[in-house]
Amino acid sequence: MSPSASLVISLLSASAVFAHSSLKYRATPQVYDACIKANDVALTFDDGPYIYLRSISDHFTAAGAKATFFMNGNNWDCIYNPDRISDVKYAYAAGHMIGSHTWSHADLPTLSTAQIQDGMFRMEEAFSRILGIKPAFMRPPFGDYNSNIQSIAAARGQSLALWDWDTGDADGNTTAQSEALYQDVINAKVTNALILEHETEETTSTTLVPFAINLFQSHGYNLVTMAECLGVDPYQAIGVPQTQSSSWTCDGTPDPGAACGGSIACETGTPVFSSTTTSGSTGPTPTPTPNQYFHPSASASKCLTAASNADGAAVEIEDCVSGGSTSQSWTISGNLLQIFGTRCLTVPPGSSADGTKLQISTCTNGNTNQQWIISGNTLQWSGHSSCLDLTNGVATNDNPASLKFSMQIWTCTGGPNQAWTHTTGPGTSGGGGQTIRPGASSNTCLSAPSAANGGPVVVQPCSSGSASQQWSHVGNTLVVYNSFCMDITGGSTTAGTKIQIWSCTPGQTGDANQQFTVTSSKMIQWVGQNDCIDLTNGNLTAGNQVQSWTCTANNSNQIWNFV
Ligand SMILES: *[C@@H]1O[C@H](CO)[C@@H](O)[C@H](O)[C@H]1NC(C)=O
Ligand SMILES: *[C@@H]1O[C@H](CO)[C@@H](O)[C@H](O)[C@H]1NC(C)=O
Ligand SMILES: *[C@@H]1O[C@H](CO)[C@@H](O)[C@H](O)[C@H]1NC(C)=O
Ligand SMILES: [Zn+2]
Repeated sequence: MSPSASLVISLLSASAVFAHSSLKYRATPQVYDACIKANDVALTFDDGPYIYLRSISDHFTAAGAKATFFMNGNNWDCIYNPDRISDVKYAYAAGHMIGSHTWSHADLPTLSTAQIQDGMFRMEEAFSRILGIKPAFMRPPFGDYNSNIQSIAAARGQSLALWDWDTGDADGNTTAQSEALYQDVINAKVTNALILEHETEETTSTTLVPFAINLFQSHGYNLVTMAECLGVDPYQAIGVPQTQSSSWTCDGTPDPGAACGGSIACETGTPVFSSTTTSGSTGPTPTPTPNQYFHPSASASKCLTAASNADGAAVEIEDCVSGGSTSQSWTISGNLLQIFGTRCLTVPPGSSADGTKLQISTCTNGNTNQQWIISGNTLQWSGHSSCLDLTNGVATNDNPASLKFSMQIWTCTGGPNQAWTHTTGPGTSGGGGQTIRPGASSNTCLSAPSAANGGPVVVQPCSSGSASQQWSHVGNTLVVYNSFCMDITGGSTTAGTKIQIWSCTPGQTGDANQQFTVTSSKMIQWVGQNDCIDLTNGNLTAGNQVQSWTCTANNSNQIWNFV
């Protein structure tokens, strides 16, 4: 990595320190319809989680800003859909605030007390399961509430979250009208603003969010979470997520807009909340996944390594050992990252500050310093807003005893030094890679038959070891033949544009046509666009050239397995 790149990364990390001020206080539950702190703007997004959550999260992360999401359990999608679970973890890990918008988005004043409690209970249960948090804020659907709803929320420790400006993005306002609303906020020279948008509108994610971020930042406002602009804690408590089980379902729960009653019993109590994981307490014991190697996403040939098998040994980066090494082979077991059988990746006790160096220590039941959440490319210290971070963004072998580049924790930024890829086995170092196989066929591989500028990317029967089928994800580039990158022909955003390869420096960020991320739902998305690599006509015949197409959830032509 060039010196300038590492400088950028350390600046990014440094700015994150200031953005993450120390925790404040738990306010007595009340109704908030405006921010308190000067110069703060909180952009809030209702009605998700839905398919645009990651994109909205990424826009904010890229701008060093934070958003707030008021979520439903069963509205536009079921929060327990595995893609939604992953997206919710992703936005939380990126440091955005998550609040309740009730389970089914029913209009609360029309419900009985038991039905209101049920709508809050099911949302608290989902957050407790997926994130291990207790929300401190509930936004009543439609902003409708009365004193009974206020006291029910208060008894559950939650303030009501309203707003003082509404973009109308979900009420039929055009993008231009919503943009005009943001401009009205600027023209009013407000001290602060608490603005309502919706996560479920595609144009909000593609157009309004970049517009608003740019507008408010260029006028000197801080884009912060709602809790931050009030100076209070976003959550009542932070514990640990639970292990997914078949009880995580929207089946048998109130439909969107509906409430409990009849065959659906009303839940009026308090859901299970895990402040620590104790074995056996939360559903089935997870099956450990051994032989996992963690690579900085930008350096497929480097591996997360324990300096020795001693209790307290440092954790660093070294060249992956071909054929594997016990000091690099991790076992994922629930929230634990185990190595040498009995040691676990550990934040040393007593410090949670940015820059704290990691170690391995004997795995101990319920030790919260050993709990990690793997979400997308990040490894988050469970219950904290800190992530495994490549010190100084430098993927350099650590010389024995220098420990200069031991791995650290840092406030989750979503940045490149917190992007990790894991492979089964060490992967291939030095320019090798993985095959990319369409979801519909395990013996078909993406192939670049000719190592030449403009060479097509096609499907072919997999051929073991063929250089034309070995891809490495280096930064956001997908590299084949060591120096060619997957490339959107002509940078065209037209659906159906064919995919080619073009010469490149692996990991370069200058050519937008060669930047791709792999989403948790295994789509290969063109960075900054809503376009994904697509198996043209679903045709698996050898020689069929793949294309770009509007990213579509659950489209089997857009699911790719890296093997
Ligand atoms: C829609 O846009 C207009 C023009 O910016 C704005 O005055 C209005 O408050 C917005 N919201 C709704 C709900 O119409
Ligand atoms: C499938 O792709 C092959 C190779 O490009 C092509 O010859 C064939 O016509 C395609 N079939 C369909 C149905 O598109
Ligand atoms: C995707 O497919 C799953 C399983 O078939 C389904 O439960 C889910 O509702 C689908 N999601 C979308 C957004 O279509
Ligand atoms: Zn809503």
